[in-house]
Amino acid sequence: MTIRSVIIGSGHYLPEKCLTNADLTKIVDTSDEWIVERTGIHQRHIADEGQTTSLLATKAAEAAIKDAGIDATSIDLIVLATATPDYTFPSTATQVQAALGIHGGAAFDVQAVCSGFVYALATADNFIKAGSAKCALVIGAETFSRILDWTDRGTCVLFGDGAGAVVLEAQNGAGSNADRGVLCTHLRSDGRHRDKLYVDGGPSVSMTTGHLRMEGKEVFRHAVTNLAETVEETFRKSGVTPDEIKWFVPHQANRRIIEATAKKLNIDPARVVITVDKHGNTSAASIPLALSVARQDGRIAKGDLVLIEAMGGGFTWGSALIRW
Ligand code: ACO
Repeated sequence: MTIRSVIIGSGHYLPEKCLTNADLTKIVDTSDEWIVERTGIHQRHIADEGQTTSLLATKAAEAAIKDAGIDATSIDLIVLATATPDYTFPSTATQVQAALGIHGGAAFDVQAVCSGFVYALATADNFIKAGSAKCALVIGAETFSRILDWTDRGTCVLFGDGAGAVVLEAQNGAGSNADRGVLCTHLRSDGRHRDKLYVDGGPSVSMTTGHLRMEGKEVFRHAVTNLAETVEETFRKSGVTPDEIKWFVPHQANRRIIEATAKKLNIDPARVVITVDKHGNTSAASIPLALSVARQDGRIAKGDLVLIEAMGGGFTWGSALIRW
């Protein structure tokens, strides 16, 4: 008998305000054509003043809890992935915990930027497998619009705001790939690449929040290599082959990165979930947002084998294999 972390509910939330590529041409020297050709992005959602990361996260969590059909108080662990917390401290997870009326268990944030959801899922899965939690809420939530330099056309066109969440429940499995739940996770990082994607401020360095800085070409180059490597590790260790994947739900940074990675891994393009066109890159929120969208529109069904992967600042990267 093996303890499995089974996804019993998912949900997401996007702020109402939508910023199109045409809107961006009024802010920076860019064009719809350039953005679509290089990234596949047509629009992104932007949080209004007062719409904090914890607010987006709480709304996504409420939707996931409703979908799971459980009482919020049965959640004994909240792991929230974000690089744009409400405050330096306390954690955004504890803000969400309070907003949901949960007063027991543990709540904390993890910071792995765009890989945050994969890191949070792996963390919650390990808590569940160790018997330290029975019902976990895993959230990815971001307000990246707050850390963008809106005069830098090389970065401000890429990102958006949003949140997604899943509820994990401890269930007994047989220990095979036929089990429902998180089947395996792989996490990696390499801190030598800080300067390729970072924020130029922080409490200890500058006492400011800072703005996102990126060497786009370098990030692109590493992304395809690192993402393919982590997924190949997942295939090797699980014994699963690319044709067994029902849905490939990658981090939604850029359509070209997604397509190049899927091609390198021999994954059928028809099995790839893409939301970057409508959401932009929402960092840690992008995978749970895409999972929730694909679940709601009927693509992801119970029993489907789902592969997720992401890479973000650090660099950090990772993947997970889930039977829904
Ligand atoms: N509109 C119009 N022109 C632009 C824009 C813009 N928004 N941004 C840059 N340009 C110009 C540049 O100034 C440059 O002009 P020049 O040739 O006159 O100097 C030209 O376009 C080419 O710029 P590059 O940066 O070389 O363009 P590139 O083809 O590399 O595309 C992009 C840039 C889209 C950022 C690409 O490098 C990329 O997708 N990188 C991956 C970055 C990413 O996805 N990061 C997300 C975070 S990490 C992650 O989630 C995996």
